[in-house]
Amino acid sequence: MSKMMTSIRTTSGEPGKLEIVNQLLLPHTTEWIEINSVDEAYDAIKSMKIRGAPAIASLAALSIASHLSRAISQTPPPEFLSSSATLRAHLQPLLDHLLTSRPTAVNLGVAIKRLTKTLEVGGDDQSVSELALELIKEANAINDEDVGRNWQMSRLGAEWLVEQTKGKVASGNLNVMTVCNTGSLATSGYGTALGLVTYLFETKSLKKAYYTQSAPYHQGSRLTSLELKTLGIPSVMICDTMVGSLFQNVEIHAVVVGADRVARNGDTANKVGTYNAAVLAARHRIPFIVVAPVSTIDLDIPDGSHIPIEHRPPLEACLARGALYPPTPNKDQAVVQITPDLDLAEGVYNPSFDVTPAELISAVVTEKGVAVKGEGAGGFDLSGVV
Ligand code: MRU
Repeated sequence: MSKMMTSIRTTSGEPGKLEIVNQLLLPHTTEWIEINSVDEAYDAIKSMKIRGAPAIASLAALSIASHLSRAISQTPPPEFLSSSATLRAHLQPLLDHLLTSRPTAVNLGVAIKRLTKTLEVGGDDQSVSELALELIKEANAINDEDVGRNWQMSRLGAEWLVEQTKGKVASGNLNVMTVCNTGSLATSGYGTALGLVTYLFETKSLKKAYYTQSAPYHQGSRLTSLELKTLGIPSVMICDTMVGSLFQNVEIHAVVVGADRVARNGDTANKVGTYNAAVLAARHRIPFIVVAPVSTIDLDIPDGSHIPIEHRPPLEACLARGALYPPTPNKDQAVVQITPDLDLAEGVYNPSFDVTPAELISAVVTEKGVAVKGEGAGGFDLSGVV
């Protein structure tokens, strides 16, 4: 795990110091930006300087911890630390605001719910300093527990895939394809679907990882490429339009994807283009595996039609970002318009996610286990993996 990238860092000894890597500038520029307030965390999530369902939940939680750590170290303390009631009144609107930054990934909602519960649980008897420390502890836990569970689900998913392909694929020869970026940059470390790919590589089961560019934000070509390169994992980038061609011409043994929200029946919202890949995988009888933490499974909704799908600003689909080409010595960044001036109100469709129906999914893997569909069933029984 030594070469693992990271998207968020805190500094022990500097109360409240919180920084993220600006993912809009990767892979050419590594710029760490300070997050000095809950509002700045909200803006970083909304503008996609940080993205990926677990990473945005972590940043939201850590921005609350940072806000409280700074407040505690202030003399005199701010007014909102005068009692647990004033702290509650101050924090609840901040939590509600963070929740609206991106609507599809349920992990953010789960993190906010955990902090809201911590805020409420002690009642009026809890001292304000006790309450603040409890909140900081819970926020740090939300971030810290992610790496371990990622490794666990990656191992479970990889072992399951190796078992499924035993006797059919020579050892060390698995080719897998993934969509978007689900690695260390999208989580607190190791990754979900990309973690599974990493685990296959580390256990010498992987031949090659294929990944789609994932337009319009290019999480594949900008971020997954960088992570795979850094980890030394043999990999091949394809354009989003080439999935069918890949499946016709290269033996792919599994498609592995992350998730922003999985409904009770297994319907899964993930980066737009995931559904296309699932339809093609079904046509080619390639196992389609969703890898996500328990916090991504939303048992409150029966199926994918209840998942709120974020639509990004239409202009974003008309732009591409990267370094100038031919390369300049400083790899100068540019955002270029790749379309004529379009009617941004009516002429561009830009959903950030799509929903893959459970019938196209072979397995859902969490840190608790692997759920596979029963014979002939349309949906999943996820009760064993939540
Ligand atoms: O818009 P993004 O980049 O936040 O979308 C990310 C994805 O769709 C990921 O697959 C998902 O959040 C899982 S990340 C472990």
